[in-house]
Amino acid sequence: MNKIVSIQNIANHVGEQVTIQGWLYAKTGKGKIQFLQVRDGTGAMQAVLFAPNLPPEVFEAGKRLTQESALRVQGTVKENERAPGVPGGYEIDAAHLEVVQIAAEYPITPKEHGVEFLLENRHLWIRSRLQWAILRIRATVMRACRDWLDSHGYVEMTTPILTPAAGEGTSTLFEVDYFGDTVYLAQTGQLYNEANIYSFGKVYCFGPTFRAEKSKTRRHMTEFWMLEPEMAYCDLDGLMEMEEQFVSYVVQRCLEERASELRVLERDTSMLEKVMPPFPRVSYDEAVERIEKIRAQTDDPDLKSLLEIEWGQDFGSPHETELTRQYDRPIFVYGFPTEAKAFYMEPWPKRPEVCKSVDMLAPEGYGEITGGSERISDPDLLLKRIHEENLPEKAFGWYLDLRRYGSVPHSGFGLGIERTVAWIAGIHHIRETNPFPRTLGRVYP
Ligand code: 4AD
Ligand code: MG
Repeated sequence: MNKIVSIQNIANHVGEQVTIQGWLYAKTGKGKIQFLQVRDGTGAMQAVLFAPNLPPEVFEAGKRLTQESALRVQGTVKENERAPGVPGGYEIDAAHLEVVQIAAEYPITPKEHGVEFLLENRHLWIRSRLQWAILRIRATVMRACRDWLDSHGYVEMTTPILTPAAGEGTSTLFEVDYFGDTVYLAQTGQLYNEANIYSFGKVYCFGPTFRAEKSKTRRHMTEFWMLEPEMAYCDLDGLMEMEEQFVSYVVQRCLEERASELRVLERDTSMLEKVMPPFPRVSYDEAVERIEKIRAQTDDPDLKSLLEIEWGQDFGSPHETELTRQYDRPIFVYGFPTEAKAFYMEPWPKRPEVCKSVDMLAPEGYGEITGGSERISDPDLLLKRIHEENLPEKAFGWYLDLRRYGSVPHSGFGLGIERTVAWIAGIHHIRETNPFPRTLGRVYP
């Protein structure tokens, strides 16, 4: 058999005899010619079956292929600028065809399907070209995150999924029966990373996190992947500087490595190209003033009511969308009200009603992609906050210990992978950025 090559590398094999192996996603042609559109996981291209060049049984086998049939095609790679595919511009002039399996009638056809149907068939839907492109971008986002951190001295830690205490508020906990005790699925790995920094300095964890979110929005899932760096001897300013370097790298890496996939998605990348440090910094106080101004100026009664806000409340997506509208790159909103954020955030000096928190909001209406803060380093203050929030002191014994043995200012953040991919890929609903999304009302397949 000829050398098996990947479609993504096909440009390196022009004029050569090769084999590609994959699946048929479409077929056209008539009479003596058939065009098979083949995808192999790395890309898609057409194979041309021309009857006079082939044994008759091979040409007939081509005719019997159904959508999603598995096949190997051997032939010569040719340039043809009009040939469709990803990357496109090449075709195989087939000399032989091996049918691996004739697929049963495939439920997802080129016609329009409703999203519920597609989600019910997610195990098949991931083969579709747009979904393939999104999930390839997801893989690059994850790889780029790790590469940046690994090359900047961060040590990857794993943190538990089964946890005895709430990290991010008690209203979104999934309970698990643990031999008669109640434990919770992790909402965050942060608290454990705060222990890890005292051994390793700079760390990160990356894994699935769980929130029993009752909200059915395009930005919320019940299981999502979060990347969480944590740094000793780092304050809020240091945190923002690190975040803007990190996120810019991830975006630029996707533009370089996933240009074909972004084209498949028809993503306008002009805004993404501008994602470079520094990112604008806006205080929560300023942000509320701006939102109130926009509210006062709009004639749209719906927007007026959506933008209602009182000092002390966290932002919803309409607020974030309006705030970011005038910027061409992500912005930081820092200094949120203490009451709107988690218990562990360091208070603002001389302003305890505000905390040293920061959210990064992506442009183009994508909203919050990271949430982070400087953490409380004083043991008495942390205990006071645990009591104020009515959290079980006993479950936080180990966490309080961290403030007794060499406590230092430290900071970290969490980046939601699905929201980041949605922004970079330009996808409306984050469920399409996870291979098997879990949302309120769906855990199948
Ligand atoms: O702002 P959050 O809740 O922060 C934390 O969990 C911190 N403990 C992280 C840290 O400091 N180490 O969540 C962080 C990010 C959000 O900015 C968002 O991108 C994503 O996680 N996120 C969600 N993504 C999808 N569905 C949900 N239900 C999400 N909740 C948060
Ligand atoms: Mg948040």
